[in-house]
Amino acid sequence: MVVGKIKKCKKVVLAYSGGVDTSVAIRWLLENKAEKVIALAIDLGQGQELKPIQKKALQIGASESLVVDAKKEFINNYIWPALFANAIYGDYPLATALARPLIAKLLVEIAKEKKADAIAHGCTGKGNDQVRFDVSTMALAPHLKIIAPAREWNMTREKSIEYAKKHNIPVPVKKKSPFSVDLNLWGRSVECGILEDAWKEPPEEAYELTRNPKLAPGKPTYITVSFRNGIPTALNGKRLDGLKLIQRLNQIAGNNGVGRIDQIENRVVGIKSREVYESPAAVVLLKAHKDLESLVHTRETILFKQSLDQKYSQLIYDGRWFNPLRVAIDVFNKYIQKRVTGVIRVKLFKGNVIIVGRKSTYSLYKEKLATYGKGDTFDQSSAVGFIKLFGLDLQSLKSN
Ligand code: ARG
Repeated sequence: MVVGKIKKCKKVVLAYSGGVDTSVAIRWLLENKAEKVIALAIDLGQGQELKPIQKKALQIGASESLVVDAKKEFINNYIWPALFANAIYGDYPLATALARPLIAKLLVEIAKEKKADAIAHGCTGKGNDQVRFDVSTMALAPHLKIIAPAREWNMTREKSIEYAKKHNIPVPVKKKSPFSVDLNLWGRSVECGILEDAWKEPPEEAYELTRNPKLAPGKPTYITVSFRNGIPTALNGKRLDGLKLIQRLNQIAGNNGVGRIDQIENRVVGIKSREVYESPAAVVLLKAHKDLESLVHTRETILFKQSLDQKYSQLIYDGRWFNPLRVAIDVFNKYIQKRVTGVIRVKLFKGNVIIVGRKSTYSLYKEKLATYGKGDTFDQSSAVGFIKLFGLDLQSLKSN
């Protein structure tokens, strides 16, 4: 079918969240871009019932509406590898950024299965997420067309609500949140509205996963996190699968006001933005993992790995996940994680995460060498010869 001069594509798979924008997108795609729309809703642990959303897409006009539970894949293939890399951008544990390549991968898989010729997403033209979806899709399926309705339609929020009403698209009755929010197991990202004033402290309503540290328990909560090959496997000695462990830790840490982040961010598209995050479990696990690595790896490994970690974090942030370099760093990290087995003791108190103890059968910490007290086995006299050679080149700069 031809609309004006532009040929519509046959079938498009749309990443569907059930919100106003992607709901309007179903209708808009049918009017302007595609003969059929397949809606795809993905469970990434956002704690939202997806059945009603699935129905809603069909009511609006999608020819098929699919729901995929991707929580396990998200944890095993995205969150844990990111944890191995201590991945962080500024102070942001990259929850939103990490989910994007997985969503793109699922869009591409469904597009192949259903013989669709395009994928679509609800991103605007100002953010990082469009870059991540588009670059991931380009890497996985260069032949697929990518449609981003919100990047094209130039609708304000009011306009899209008007459009929704005109086309009988259900708009949530409850007052729309004054923020733009993205949520998954690894954290919650909040922007827009009052947060755009970089000088103003975020109001309490911006937060949902964390208690105000002021109102958090007046006594510290002590927990232990056990790791095996770099993967967190138990909380307080109780073995938990990845999903339960992250969910439980989100509660415990969130209750102590842990995981609030407020930062100015440097977007890929050149804009500086202010964003607020809540990542209680991620903040604790990243800190614990890094501490354990420091205990079990040699100094050289630690220092070398810092630059790899930084590169890895940037690959995630920039949406370049499907890059052989990322895969290669994964292989390195996986090898290195064999030693990252042990237990970390953490104190959570009014927004703070403090590592207070660590142990591992792979520990390289030798109290006998470190001690300033009795039983010291370190030969201090050997330091003299070592330093003599270590500083020799710098000394020779002055001595001629
Ligand atoms: N700034 C974050 C990133 O680029 C989050 C973007 C999405 N945020 C949102 N509130 N919808 O990864």
